[in-house]
Amino acid sequence: MSATPVTLQPRPIDTRPIDPSVDHEIQAIVAGETTAETCNTDLAAGPWTFDTRPGYGPGSSMGDVIPTGAPRQGQLPAEYREADEAELAARIVAAKHTLGERVVVLGHFYQREEVVTHADYVGDSFQLANAALEHPDAEAIVFCGVHFMAETADLLSRPEQAVILPNLAAGCSMADMADIDQVEECWEQLSDVYGDMDAPDAEGLLPVIPVTYMNSSAAIKGFVGRHGGIVCTSSNARTVLEWAFARGRRVLFFPDQHLGRNTAKAMGVPLEQMPMWNPRKALGGSSEAELADARVILWHGFCSVHRRFTVDQIAAARAEHPGVRVIVHPECPMDVVDAADEAGSTDYIRKAIAAATEPTTFAIGTEINLVQRLAAQFPQHEIFCLDPVVCPCSTMYRIHPGYLAWILEGLVAGEVRNRITVPADVAQPARVALERMLAAKP
Ligand code: 13P
Ligand code: SF4
Repeated sequence: MSATPVTLQPRPIDTRPIDPSVDHEIQAIVAGETTAETCNTDLAAGPWTFDTRPGYGPGSSMGDVIPTGAPRQGQLPAEYREADEAELAARIVAAKHTLGERVVVLGHFYQREEVVTHADYVGDSFQLANAALEHPDAEAIVFCGVHFMAETADLLSRPEQAVILPNLAAGCSMADMADIDQVEECWEQLSDVYGDMDAPDAEGLLPVIPVTYMNSSAAIKGFVGRHGGIVCTSSNARTVLEWAFARGRRVLFFPDQHLGRNTAKAMGVPLEQMPMWNPRKALGGSSEAELADARVILWHGFCSVHRRFTVDQIAAARAEHPGVRVIVHPECPMDVVDAADEAGSTDYIRKAIAAATEPTTFAIGTEINLVQRLAAQFPQHEIFCLDPVVCPCSTMYRIHPGYLAWILEGLVAGEVRNRITVPADVAQPARVALERMLAAKP
């Protein structure tokens, strides 16, 4: 007897628009309205719960150590803590309207949707620094991002312009992993191994060229500028390493070991020639022979958000979604980048999705706010985050619309709050390092 054929019904298409707000999703998780998981339910509370405490607050980087002397926000006034989403949005719109062209609001891709919606420009850290540069007449640049980004905008903007970080506790745990004193100490130890760091060899190459990722303090950028080095971003890291290898025998790369390793490996540098520098160990934990043979010395830093992505998540995505296109950020560990189909900066990821002409399933390895926004913006594709746990960058998440409203209403009242200023002695060499990057061409 032959079996009755089963007619497969196509799965009904869910036509409801995707909510781009990670905030709403976390609230729904905490209220038990969804089976999704978050890495820390404290994220559902307002960030002001942590304003008076040191540290990064709840979430992926809460175990990281905040550097001594790092600014603390201090408590946000009650009227902003107690206002609901609609009231804050209305107050932000009204204040922006009053301020007009006097203010420019910049929003990083990883910011909450409730903040990004008020931004005049949304982009990666480099694009936003350029947006600051393009507004020399604005009195205030409100940078909804993290501390190093506001510092970079201050370096590139005019001295009269005030660059403002709405919550001073919005640092970057990776940037904080390369502390200027540790880097100076490392340089001294390296000079014991390599000799005079300013003396070129017979081929005109210096012993070491320092390269810092944009995700570093202005003090580190200044260090790099003073020692013949350069800044890079995740989109130009290869070009910058080529620039450095044209001038030096080897590179000291900080703070992100993964971006350094992934980029150098793609350029053909063997892993054996990439020792790690752990600032807590003598000679960074390597022998003199290893350092003598090194091509890239990798600082022991990482991003707590991108470290969450794993090869197993990629395998699960491929098993559940045959044909899925996996794109990850180069801050992910090397095995994850190797297992993905592509790796690229936040802007690369956005452009890759925007350029896909056929409906495609994308599994993305980067911060959830960007992934969820892309899923909402491109409903013709299926876009999901490789990490099934909802875990935003906890420091980016410190910027809540309450702080933006407080900053903007302060400006309306003639008060500049939370200004970020890089001291002149640091700013001058830091600008040199940034200008070298801008001039480096592939
Ligand atoms: P972008 O340089 O792409 O803005 O990334 C910054 C960042 O913090 C990535 O984790
Ligand atoms: Fe820093 Fe990682 Fe957050 Fe980017 S995602 S700001 S590197 S902690």
